[in-house]
Amino acid sequence: MSGTPTAVVVAAALTHEGTLLLAQRTRPPELAGLWELPGGKVEPGESEDSALARELREELGVECSIGAALSGDVDLAGGLVLRAYRATLVSGTPAALEHSALRWVDAAMLPTMDLVDADRLWLPELLDILLTS
Ligand code: CDP
Repeated sequence: MSGTPTAVVVAAALTHEGTLLLAQRTRPPELAGLWELPGGKVEPGESEDSALARELREELGVECSIGAALSGDVDLAGGLVLRAYRATLVSGTPAALEHSALRWVDAAMLPTMDLVDADRLWLPELLDILLTS
């Protein structure tokens, strides 16, 4: 195999007391207003765990512990692959530093949220996590 390695986007299923943190995107225009698992691109030389911890620090101002990956990757436009990991708060209170809003949602609220398409793959697993936590 040759060519450019696949770029990975990591996203967090950050849970706290039976709720999941969703973040509302501000960009690009076609995704603005939709809700996502917060995260971003892994930089060259960075592990996925440290990239996700960095993104959560930058976007939410919190320190998190990164856990297991959720099942399945999502192919995004532009050759990117999206992968999600469990995460828990170590310190701080999340703030919308790069999103327009944050919301902690429970299992009843999650299916009613307008999620970005890519993140919908994980809805059943996220509901399961919320209902068993
Ligand atoms: O901030 P950075 O440029 O590192 O990443 P981003 O713009 O937040 O995400 C890169 C790509 O992944 C965009 O196309 C997002 O729409 C997508 N993404 C997604 O589909 N679901 C997420 N939970 C996070 C990012």
